[in-house]
Parts: sequence; structure tokens; C-alpha cells
Amino acid sequence: MKAVEIIKDVYWVGGIDYDVRNFHGYSYTTHHGTTYNAYLITGEKTALIDAVYGPFSDEMFRRISSVVSTDEIQYVISNHAEMDHSGAVPEVLDRVKNATLVCTARATDVLKKHYPDGWNIQTVKTGEEVDLGGKTLRFYEAPMLHWPESMFTYYVEEEMLLPNDAFGQHYATEKRFSDEVDQNVLWREAEKYYANILWPLSRMVQRKIEEVVELGLPIKTIAPSHGLIWRKDPLQIVTRYLEWAKGERINSKVVITWDTMWQSTTKIARAIASGVNDEGLTPLLHLIPHSDRSDIMADLLEARGILVGCPTLHNDILPTVAPILSDLEVLKPVGKKCAAFGSYGWGGGSVKRIQESMERGKMDIVLEPFVLKWVPTDDELTKAYEYGREFARKVK
Ligand code: FEO
Repeated sequence: MKAVEIIKDVYWVGGIDYDVRNFHGYSYTTHHGTTYNAYLITGEKTALIDAVYGPFSDEMFRRISSVVSTDEIQYVISNHAEMDHSGAVPEVLDRVKNATLVCTARATDVLKKHYPDGWNIQTVKTGEEVDLGGKTLRFYEAPMLHWPESMFTYYVEEEMLLPNDAFGQHYATEKRFSDEVDQNVLWREAEKYYANILWPLSRMVQRKIEEVVELGLPIKTIAPSHGLIWRKDPLQIVTRYLEWAKGERINSKVVITWDTMWQSTTKIARAIASGVNDEGLTPLLHLIPHSDRSDIMADLLEARGILVGCPTLHNDILPTVAPILSDLEVLKPVGKKCAAFGSYGWGGGSVKRIQESMERGKMDIVLEPFVLKWVPTDDELTKAYEYGREFARKVK
């Protein structure tokens, strides 16, 4: 396993995880695996920027050793203390006793709690620099992108931004650059990553990007900590993040997601979808037990709106629908247009519960819930179809 030189004297020395299918405690599915990107900058002094997840340390050390002896590392820059990037840091500092660990003050607290103490730590603030001997690393604190201790590293002379998790994708491949891979997979994974990690932080994303733009930093390369490196038109991903953060990138799709007990709610969902379709929008149907919650949220990021349906069980929702409602509450698709639908037998309750989650997610409920008792009649299905048309007109 060898390092990959991405620009002169800057090497990718990360790990490729083809197997991982779940991230962040099973809250995020990674159909294409991921990479843990670490970067080595060699020169008069050598720096390692971020490390890999612990189980991938051997892969990282093999790649480092193909360029320099591990002993030559003088600085270990930790942009983010989460374990998929800091997991191998203790082993690096164990092998290279005199290396200095560079991170924010907040990261120090996290790293000391995660790992044994006793390291040589240099805390940095925005604008502070480390000189590698004619090669300058400047640091920018980036709180809540996506943890409070996060920071970006900027390699001044090469105009290279290393923003850790920002601008990444969970995409395992032997290729290293975004222009070398399937563009549909690349952008889908970037979209899914934003929706499931950064969506609730959109205000901070917007503010930080505007701050960096105001600084006028020239950027030739963006090297994130997951997935592919952006070297051709690197600002395209920055522009896309701004559009997502502002909710400005909207397609013609409407997400319809539901579960059913005895098919009544499915019949309603299908009638609503037909109405949405006949208004010229594209319904994306996700029957919850067969769908992936993080894919649903990825679909929602650019969609015009979402309809969530569920029958009533014990005056509440079916348990299968709870994860979707949790995502709406915590990922906060602020202002996204939405409505609830469902069926019931002896007592209602599911649509109320769905609406509560939509309200917690600060979404825009555009219609009263569509709800019916027992099995839908033909007349009720016609009303569901009209409801779909009305929803489409509201979100067009
Ligand atoms: Fe926030 Fe890739 O860890």
C-alpha cells in the first residue's frame, strides 16, 4: 500500500473502508463504504494532517512509510476529534514521541478524554500558523462543522483547503479525485452526506462559507477527510453547499413515505402520488420497511416537499415510522413543505404525532392531514387523489 502524491510534496495516506455500511451509530447508511483521509506534507518539517479510524492505522502507516520514515513526522494536525479521524492519533504519537499535536483548545479537552494524556499539544486559534520551513499551515476554527472543536487547515503556498468532514462523501474507491469517478455516485453521496450530517447546521455552514469567501482565500484544491478530493473547479462543492444551506436548490420531486398495516394507508399513498404526478411533479415513493431512512432524507434535501403517512396503532404511529420522524426532528428541514396522511380504526392519533414531528423540525405544514376510517371507499380515494393535486399546487 503506497501513498498517493496529490500535489507536490502532499500525499494521501488514508485508509479505504469498502465494508462499512453504517455510520454514526446506524443512523446513516453507507452503501458505497467510505475512506478515512489523512494527508502527509513533507519538507524541512513533516506534518500529518488528520489520521484514520483506529482499525485502519496499519494501512496508514504503510502508506506513510512509502514516503518517509514515521520518525520524521514533527506535527500531527487534528482538525476534528471524532474517532474516525483521531482513532490512530495515539499510535502515531506513541511511535513519534517528540511530535507536536496541533488542535483547537476544545479539541484538547475531547482528545484528553478519549485517549491517554501526556502528549505535547499546541492549541491554535483562527489565523495562527505552523511553519514547516517555507510551507505554511494556517488554521481556521470551524465550530459546529460539524463538532464544536472542528477546524480547517489551509496550506497557504499551495492554496489547499483541508476542511476535514466538510465537503466529504462516503465513497470507497481506489481513485482519489472527484473528476475520476462516476459523477452520479459522487454527487449523490455528497448530497446524502449533507442531508444526514450538515442539514441541521445549515446556518453555521452558510456563515462559515461566507466568512471564508470574505477572506478572499484562493483555493486550488479541497481535500476533505472522507471520499474524493476536489481539484477541478473545487468551488463547485462550496457553491452546492451554499445552495443546500439556503434551501435554494430545489427539483421537481415530492417525497411520499409511509407504512401500512392492512393496505389502507398504501392505497391513500398511491392515490396521493397519482395526484402529485398529474400536477407535473415527480412523486418519489418510499414504503418505509423497504426504504432506507438516510436515502429518504437525501431525496428530501432538494425535493419540493414531503408527505408522511401512517395508520394508527395504540393511538400513535407504527414503530417503523418513528425513525423517519426522528430524522425530521433532528435534521430540521426548516421550511420544507409537508403534510401528513393516514388511516385509523377505533381511534386516531398517528397524523397528530406526525405533525408534531414536522413542527419540531420547523417545517411548513401546507395542508390539514388527510385521514380516513377503516378501508378507503372509491370516493375517499378520489379525495386522496385531489389531496395529492392540492399538495402539488401548494409546493410548485
Ligand atoms: Fe465527524 Fe468523519 O467524523
